Amino acid sequence: MTRRISILGSTGSIGVSTLRLLDEVGGDFAIEALIGGRNVDLLAQQALKYRPAITVLADPSQWSALRDRLAGSGLEIACGEDAVCAAAGRKSDLVMAAIVGIAGLKPTWAAAGTGAILALANKESLVCCGRALIERVEAHGGRVLPVDSEHNAIFQVLDVNQKDKVARLVLTASGGPFWGRSRAELGQVTVEQALKHPNWSMGAKITIDSATLANKGLELIEAAYLFDMPGEKIDVVIHPQSVVHSLVEYRDGSSLAQLGPPDMRVPISYCLGWPERVAWQAPKLDLVGMKTLTFAAPDESAFPMLRLAREALAAGEGMTTVFNAANEVCVQAFLDRRIGFLQIAEYVETAMMRAQLPSISSKDHTSRDMSVQGIAFALDIDAQVRRLVADLFFSARQHV
Ligand SMILES: NC(=O)c1ccc[n+]([C@@H]2O[C@H](COP(=O)([O-])OP(=O)(O)OC[C@H]3O[C@@H](n4cnc5c(N)ncnc54)[C@H](OP(=O)(O)O)[C@@H]3O)[C@@H](O)[C@H]2O)c1
Repeated sequence: MTRRISILGSTGSIGVSTLRLLDEVGGDFAIEALIGGRNVDLLAQQALKYRPAITVLADPSQWSALRDRLAGSGLEIACGEDAVCAAAGRKSDLVMAAIVGIAGLKPTWAAAGTGAILALANKESLVCCGRALIERVEAHGGRVLPVDSEHNAIFQVLDVNQKDKVARLVLTASGGPFWGRSRAELGQVTVEQALKHPNWSMGAKITIDSATLANKGLELIEAAYLFDMPGEKIDVVIHPQSVVHSLVEYRDGSSLAQLGPPDMRVPISYCLGWPERVAWQAPKLDLVGMKTLTFAAPDESAFPMLRLAREALAAGEGMTTVFNAANEVCVQAFLDRRIGFLQIAEYVETAMMRAQLPSISSKDHTSRDMSVQGIAFALDIDAQVRRLVADLFFSARQHV
C-alpha cells in the first residue's frame, strides 16, 4: 500500500536528508505535504520532483515567487503560517517534523492530531509542550519516534516494560567545536568558529546550540518528557567521537548502547522503516580504524547551558519554555553578531530569573485541552520571554 508522508521543514538539513533517504529506501510512497520556511527555490525544486498533494511556504511575501516557479505544474500551493498548520494537519501515515525552533510548535501540534507516526526532529516543541504533545499523538492513535540520534538510540535499547529496572539514561554529547576550552577562551570565539561543528552537518541554530551545550540541555529535557524519566536519572557524558549515541544503564549492571557513524540518515532511516529496519547503503562503522572512544564529564562552569536546562526541567514545563525561548532569541542575536558567545547563557539565566510564569498545576497539566488551545500556555510564555530578552538587549545598549 502507498504510504503518504509529509515533511515539515523539507528545505532544511533533516528535511533534505529525509527526501534523499526516501529515494533510496522509501518503497511505495507518496508525498502529502512539503513545507518550507523561506527557501522558495529549493521548495519549488522538491515540489516538481515529488509532486506533493500540497506545497507550502511559510513566508507569505514569497507567494508570487512560488506560484511563478510552479506555474503550469498543476500543483496546489499555499503560503503563510495558517497554511503551514493546515498542511501539517492533513491525514498522512508519517510526518517528519523538522521545522527549526518554536516555529515548529503549531505545525507539529497540528500533525500530532492526525493519528500519523510523528518522527520528531523539532525537539523545541516537545521542550515547550512536555508530555502533552506525546499524549496528543497517542490519543489520536499515532506514535512518536525520536529523530534526534541520542533519543533514537535510547528508543532502540530501552525496554519499556522494565522501566523500573533502569538506573539511568546516559546522553552522549560531542562537546561541539569548543570542548576543552576554558570560560575565558570562550569569550573570544566567533560566529564562524561556532558554526564549524567537528562531527555533524546541521542547520545553523542547532549548530550554535551544540557549541554552547544548549542542545544537550534541550535534549535532556526532551529525554525526560519522551521517556517519562526524572531529570536526576538522566546524565550527560562528553564523547567527542559521536559513535556511541546514548545508553540505557539497567540496575542489574548492564548498559545497552546504540552505536553508529555520526550521520543523521541513520536515525532518520530507522524512523522511516519503523517498526522494521530498512536496508540501504548506510555508512559503516570502522571499529578497528577508529582506535579510541573517549568519555568525559561535561564542564558546566564553561558551558552553563546544561545546568540551566537541568534547573528549568526541575522547575517545570513553563520554565523549559522560558529556557527554549530565551535561548532561541540569544542564538539569533549571536548569529547576527549583536551579542557574544558567553552572553547567550547570561541572558538565558537572567530570563529564567525574571520571567513571570502563569501557574499551571499538575491537574491542569493532565487535563490539558487537546485542541490547539493546548499550546496557548507555551506560546504565551514564549512571547513574554521574547519581549523580556528584547528589553534586556535594549537596556544593555543604553548602558554602553
Ligand atoms: N540537523 C540535524 O542534524 C538535527 C539533528 C537532531 C535534531 N535536529 C532538529 O531538527 C530540527 C531542524 O533542524 P535542521 O538542522 O534541519 O534545521 P535547518 O537546516 O535550519 O532547517 C530548518 C527548516 O525549518 C524551516 N523553517 C524555518 N522557519 C519556519 C517557519 N516559520 N515555518 C515553516 N518552516 C520553517 C526551514 O525552511 P527554510 O530553510 O526554507 O527557511 C527549514 O526547512 C531542529 O529542531 C533541530 O533541533 C536536527
